Amino acid sequence: MTETDDLKTHLLTAIEAAAGLDALETVRVEALGKQGRVTALLKSLGSLTPEERQVQGPAIHGLREAVTTAIATRKAALESAALEAKLAAERVDMTLPVDVPLAGTIHPVSQVMDELAEIFADLGFAVATGPELETDWHNFTALNIPESHPARAMHDTFYLAGEHTPEDRERPRLLRTHTSPVQIRTMLSQKPPIRIIAPGRTYRSDSDATHTPMFHQVEGLVIDKGITMGHLKWTLETFLKAFFERDDIVLRLRPSYFPFTEPSAEVDVGYTLQKGKRVIGGGGDVENGGWMEVLGSGMVHPKVIAACGLDPEEWQGFAFGCGIDRLAMLKYGMDDLRAFFDGDIRWLKHYGFSALDVPTLSGGVGAA
Ligand code: PHE
Repeated sequence: MTETDDLKTHLLTAIEAAAGLDALETVRVEALGKQGRVTALLKSLGSLTPEERQVQGPAIHGLREAVTTAIATRKAALESAALEAKLAAERVDMTLPVDVPLAGTIHPVSQVMDELAEIFADLGFAVATGPELETDWHNFTALNIPESHPARAMHDTFYLAGEHTPEDRERPRLLRTHTSPVQIRTMLSQKPPIRIIAPGRTYRSDSDATHTPMFHQVEGLVIDKGITMGHLKWTLETFLKAFFERDDIVLRLRPSYFPFTEPSAEVDVGYTLQKGKRVIGGGGDVENGGWMEVLGSGMVHPKVIAACGLDPEEWQGFAFGCGIDRLAMLKYGMDDLRAFFDGDIRWLKHYGFSALDVPTLSGGVGAA
């Protein structure tokens, strides 16, 4: 037996015996790495006489071939064994009775909705709801977004099949793109004064790490006499202080545009940087933090009040809209929105809440 044959037997045995990917890598480095034994043999070819090379050349190249192929085969086998083991370990038998420690948790979105209801109930707001399959009229027209309005294009609306007219108030034609149609439904169905929040699902054709086709918003609406932007700002400040459980919440209202409010303001909340992470509270300055947009808001447009059959000379109000998923991410520290809707029990065990974590103002709305 030649030295090359010996080495081949040794290496092929070692490859076959490698119990894991790490062990296999060690053998690969020993054979084919920069200082490897096969590499050394290949290098030695240069110093041989032409006659020697004729004999040694094919043997050494053959050795390299054999070792490379054996490593690839072994690697594939180890990888598929690892996958099989992972699948077996993560197998959930859906036919078994519920194992109590594994049982579901309260989703952070549900938890935050309960927190919102609790905070706003204390300010005298009731919870209102509306359908997710909406009419064009409620979702757009009554909100001062007529057919030709560019805001319609910005909403990336999911439409249902079938005929419709923009004035049809009965037949649903789309998945609501925001919770603002609940403003309309509430003003049509109850007499002012009105104080409601409307949390719920909303839909837009959009998807990345911070957008999902279905997401959640909460709408707020106040209609009364003599309502001003001051009431709006105080309400939002009180809400955000209670929600983030901090007194040092700083708000910035930036002039903005929504067809259904006039004037309109986008609301930013100050954050400070702590160990590179954004923490809501204080801040606003560029050095140690900055501003994060959390809400759209404004004074309800007189045309919207009139579309609901109320006299805008008599009644005024403010409205705001806010992404619930984003609020949850800011408060509880998730960074990928898509995971909210995967239904992965491990994620829910980590971020979910116990059914006993009922938010109360006295206990702090955040769960213990
Ligand atoms: N509906 C708006 C949106 O989805 C938010 C908003 C609600 C703005 C109420 C002002 C008043 O972006």
